[in-house]
Amino acid sequence: MLPFSEAAGRNQSAIAGPLSRILPGAARVLEIGSGTGQHAVYFSERFPGVYWQCTDLAENLPGLQARIDQEGRTRLPDALELDVMSDGWPRVSFDAVFTANTLHIMPWDHTPVLLARSATLLNPGGCLAIYGPFHDAGVHTAPSNEAFDRSLRARNPAMGVRDAVQIQALANERGLQVEADLALPANNRILVFRKPAAAPT
Ligand SMILES: C[S@@+](CC[C@H](N)C(=O)[O-])C[C@H]1O[C@@H](n2cnc3c(N)ncnc32)[C@H](O)[C@@H]1O
Repeated sequence: MLPFSEAAGRNQSAIAGPLSRILPGAARVLEIGSGTGQHAVYFSERFPGVYWQCTDLAENLPGLQARIDQEGRTRLPDALELDVMSDGWPRVSFDAVFTANTLHIMPWDHTPVLLARSATLLNPGGCLAIYGPFHDAGVHTAPSNEAFDRSLRARNPAMGVRDAVQIQALANERGLQVEADLALPANNRILVFRKPAAAPT
């Protein structure tokens, strides 16, 4: 049986709206932490011109690849192993990097690395989109996110809901401009960053 995430099933249509506005029709997208692959299957159906490269930690690759084989074989390339902290980042460039519900699972020191590596491999004018729950300058925006944060930290002290203000500042330092911070259902948000287009020569 394929791994399944109820959350991914619930949030995919809400995420598709903003993605449809920020992704060029023939974008090359790198997804970090694809998990069950449900988002990749859904978005590759919804955006047929887009090349969607799934990645995840080695331990999640068999399930992810099984979903690609069963549900996305004609549209999706094979998943790649990628640990954000490794040197295994693709050597080719992308028009967009997308990641959903990953920053609160990874230890916090992974976020600056994800931002820096994304800034490097994005084409000029490309964007980074990060979906998930966030708080602002340490202040929770909803009781449900506060409870979720507590449950994550109880499970593993390295996990926790991350701070949008801090992420935006770090992204800026790495050359990514804040483009949008959009509210989505269930107190989730999508943070969008843009790598400036190359200056005309
Ligand atoms: C809660 S799941 C989200 C999966 C999927 N994006 C979704 O929205 O359903 C978190 C994902 O982050 C991945 N992840 C955790 N640490 C990672 C790391 N260091 N590098 C890359 N992915 C990582 C996990 O393997 C897992 O697939």
